Amino acid sequence: LNPSTSPHQMEGLSAANCRAKGGSPGFKVAILGAAGGIGQPLAMLMKMNPLVSVLHLYDVANTPGVTADISHMDTGAVVRGFLGPQQLEDALTGMDLVVIPAGVPRKPGMTRDDLFNINAGIVKTLCEGIAKCCPKAIVNIISNPVNSTVPIAAEVFKMAGTFDPRRLLGVTMLDVVRANTFVAEDLGLDPREVDVPVVGGHAGVTILPLLSQIKPPCSFTPEETEYLTSRIQNGGTEVVEAKAGAGSATLSMAYAAVKFADACLHGLRGDAAIIQCAFVTELPFFASKVRLGRSGVEEIFPLGPLNEYERTGLEKAKKELATSIQKGVSFVKK
Ligand code: NAD
Ligand code: LMR
Repeated sequence: LNPSTSPHQMEGLSAANCRAKGGSPGFKVAILGAAGGIGQPLAMLMKMNPLVSVLHLYDVANTPGVTADISHMDTGAVVRGFLGPQQLEDALTGMDLVVIPAGVPRKPGMTRDDLFNINAGIVKTLCEGIAKCCPKAIVNIISNPVNSTVPIAAEVFKMAGTFDPRRLLGVTMLDVVRANTFVAEDLGLDPREVDVPVVGGHAGVTILPLLSQIKPPCSFTPEETEYLTSRIQNGGTEVVEAKAGAGSATLSMAYAAVKFADACLHGLRGDAAIIQCAFVTELPFFASKVRLGRSGVEEIFPLGPLNEYERTGLEKAKKELATSIQKGVSFVKK
């Protein structure tokens, strides 16, 4: 055998024929911040997603290595790497979905809002690129503080004349993933069978788990409610402290980001009943249960009946959210 003969050639198929046969009509996805702690496992998981045909990995550092590595996985998506601002437009052109985990993470003692000064500018620049190169893409924002970075993105899109509230979503999926896990742990259930809606925002008291609406229906003592709510609200800090200066949640976040991105892609494909929680840009900005479809968010569900504990939590959440939203809007307007 000639070692340079590929198995396809031996069977009488050219490599080009094979590519054409295997080419799936999937979606084009870009990850901005793809070489980071979240970006790398997120890129790996997206490369494994059968709905993705093209995967663009953009970062200001280290994308050639990450791209070479991930491109060796024998899954369908074609992977391309883009490095630095001069390649941002090529990374974004033609994308259906853009996921943004670019920016600095917390260290112990910091709040998410302490990241604003660095991450606000990063998100603004990346969204200017999206407005120019793929204004119809669905955008998933992971970069913190989500309660301010999503309003920043909305303002950038409004200024560019491309804003579509259905297509901009802040990723709060990790709060839901944590809520399902912690509640299942507490009740001795399988986390895959638990569904806790988490509304409001993605920082401290703005994270509002609605334990009264849990599926399967369960009841909690006041002490259990207090313990679970506090653990869900402080889940991010739990990881930041355990990592002791080496960053914040990356692996569980990549898992949550892919779960959410996958839901967006199923919605884009036209699948029915795709329902998740996300920080959306109406009401004016609030994490709610939403139905995802061909144009992004197609329905925002009302909060439903809240108990007294949740009503008090909602008032606290709204107050803090208003400040964070205004901070993001002012950053772009000034
Ligand atoms: P990281 O430092 O490991 O990675 C960030 C990556 O962003 C780096 O590779 C960096 O080079 C890149 N980057 C910096 N500036 C950029 C720019 N202008 N354009 C493109 N890429 C750029 O951080 P991480 O742990 O991956 O966290 C990233 C962000 O996600 C942080 O802001 C963190 O707080 C946030 N986060 C959000 C959630 C959530 O639930 N929404 C969960 C975890 C982390
Ligand atoms: C999280 O919830 O894990 C993220 O928002 C990261 C952080 O800073 O806590």
